[in-house]
Amino acid sequence: MKAIVSKIGLGVIVSCLLTYAAYAKAITTQFEFEGVAVNAEHIAVFVGKDGALSAAVAGINAKTKGRLETALKDAEYKGKFGAKLHLYGMSPFKSIIVVGAGSDELSVRKLRDLGGYVAQASNNKQSLGVISAGLNTTVEQSAAQLAMGYALSSYTFDKYKEKKKNEDNKMTSRTVSFHGQGVAAAKALFENDLIHVVKGVNFARDMGTEPGLSIYPESYVQRVRALFRDVANVKIEVMGVPEMKRKNMGAILGVGRGSIHDPRFVILSYMGGNSDEAPIALAGKGITFDTGGISIKPNTGQWQMKSDLSGAAAVAGTLYAVAKRGEKVNLVGVMAMAENMPAKDAIRPGDVLKTMSGKTIEVMSTDAEGRLVLSDAVTYVQEEYNPRLLIDIATLTGAAARALGTDYAVVITRDWDLAQDMMRIGKTAGEDVWPLPLNKSHYKAIKSDIADIKSTGGNPGASIGAAVIGTFVDEDRVWVHLDIAGVDWLSKATPTAPKGHAGWGVRFMDAVVRENQQAQ
Ligand code: BES
Ligand code: ZN
Ligand code: MN
Repeated sequence: MKAIVSKIGLGVIVSCLLTYAAYAKAITTQFEFEGVAVNAEHIAVFVGKDGALSAAVAGINAKTKGRLETALKDAEYKGKFGAKLHLYGMSPFKSIIVVGAGSDELSVRKLRDLGGYVAQASNNKQSLGVISAGLNTTVEQSAAQLAMGYALSSYTFDKYKEKKKNEDNKMTSRTVSFHGQGVAAAKALFENDLIHVVKGVNFARDMGTEPGLSIYPESYVQRVRALFRDVANVKIEVMGVPEMKRKNMGAILGVGRGSIHDPRFVILSYMGGNSDEAPIALAGKGITFDTGGISIKPNTGQWQMKSDLSGAAAVAGTLYAVAKRGEKVNLVGVMAMAENMPAKDAIRPGDVLKTMSGKTIEVMSTDAEGRLVLSDAVTYVQEEYNPRLLIDIATLTGAAARALGTDYAVVITRDWDLAQDMMRIGKTAGEDVWPLPLNKSHYKAIKSDIADIKSTGGNPGASIGAAVIGTFVDEDRVWVHLDIAGVDWLSKATPTAPKGHAGWGVRFMDAVVRENQQAQ
C-alpha cells in the first residue's frame, strides 16, 4: 500500500508579477515510508566504514545477483562518511546510489546529512527507494531524519530562470520512499513535525534569495501572510507607519525613512501553551535591502544585502514549524522590516533617534541599521509580552562573519551557562553557534556625547552591536543574541543545503523552543 505522506513544493510560490515564471511547474517530492519490499527504479543504500553490508543491503545485493558487492570491491569502496558512488548496470534496478555512513554511531545531524547526500547524488531520479534499515544508530525514526535531510538538500529556487531544471525530462513529481521496519512511526514524525521545519527553512531561503526589487516591507508581509494561510493558530498583526508613530518607534521609522517602501512591524503570535505561561519571544532583523543608507556601502558584494532580512525570515519560519506541529508553548515572533536607502529624506550620520523605550541613539553610521530596528523590536516585545526568554537574530555585523566564518553563528548572552546550552542545542540541531563576549567595555564604547548611546564605537565588532541591542533588554531578562551575518549565505553546498541562502536559524530556534516547551 502506498501512503503519500507529504508533498512539498520544491520551488516557490510563483509571483504574479512575473508572468514568464507562471507556466513553470516546480517538482513535487512525495515522501513515502514503506516496509522492506522495494519497488523503486533507483535505490540508495548506506555502507558503513567496515564495508560490510547490512542485512537489508545484502538483500538488495542478492537481487542484483551479487553485482553490487562486486562493484563495491572493484571500486575499493571504503564507506567513508559521505563518500558517494553511483552504480549503473545493477539490474533489476536502473541504478544504485551508495553513500558512506562511516563507522561512528549516527546522530540526528549525521542522519540528516546522509539524507542530503542521497539527494545530491540522486539528482532528479523520479523513483528512488532508500534503504533505511540497518543503520548504526540509536536515533528513533531515523528514516524521518534521512527524509528531512533529503528535503532540505533538494531545495531549488528557479523562478527567475526561463528554462527550469526539470524541463528537459518533463518531470513534475518524484517519489522518494524509505524502506525499513517500523517506518510508520517515521512517517508520523516526518509528516507531523519535521516537514514543517523544512518548510520553515525553505521559506527563509526563499526570502533571502528573492531580490530587493520584489521583496520590500509590504511584499514581505504578503509573503508572511501566504506562509501562514493554512495555519489557523497563528495570529498576524501588522503595524504600518501610523501605528509605529503611535508607539514612538523612532528607530525603525528612522531606518525606513529613505525608502519609497514604508517600514512594517509584524507580530506573529502562537499561544499553544497555558494562558498564564510567559511566552518565548523571537525578534528578527528584516532589512529587505541594506545599501548602507547615506553611509553607503561599496559595490563589492552589495547584491548580497538582499538577504539582510534573514533574521526576520528565520523568525517566521520557526513560528511556522512550531505552530504546525502544535507544540505546547507560547511563542511570539516580531519582524522589524525596513529598507535601508540613501535619499533626500534619509537619516544622516550624526542624527539622533528617539527609540520606543524613550532612550535616544546617536546614529554614527547609517549602515549600522540592524541594531536600530532591533532596539525598537526588543522594547516592543518585552513591554507587550514580558517573555521568559528573548532571542534576537540578525545579519548584524561583517565582523561576526570574519570571526567565525560560515560554520558558527555568533551567540552572545549575559550568562555563560546559557551560552553553553546554546552551543549544545546548536550542535544537535545542525546549526552551530559560538560565543563572543559582552562586557562593560562594550557598553562604555557606545557612550554618546549628545544622546543616551551611540550606534557604533570602539571597533565595528559583533559585541558592540550586541551592546546597542542589550541597552534595550531588561537586565534580568533571559536573553540570547544571534549574529548570523556569516552563516546565512553559503558559497558552496553543504550536505543539507545547496549553495546560496541557508535559511539559518529556523532549525536552531526550533530546537531551542523544543527544549523550552512548557512543562506538561
Ligand atoms: N547587514 C550588515 C552586516 C552584514 C555584512 C551582513 C556582511 C552580511 C554580510 C550590517 O547592517 C552592517 O552594515 N554592519 C556594519 C556595522 C558597522 C557600520 C558598525 C558592518 O558590519 O560593517
Ligand atoms: Zn544590515
Ligand atoms: Mn548595514
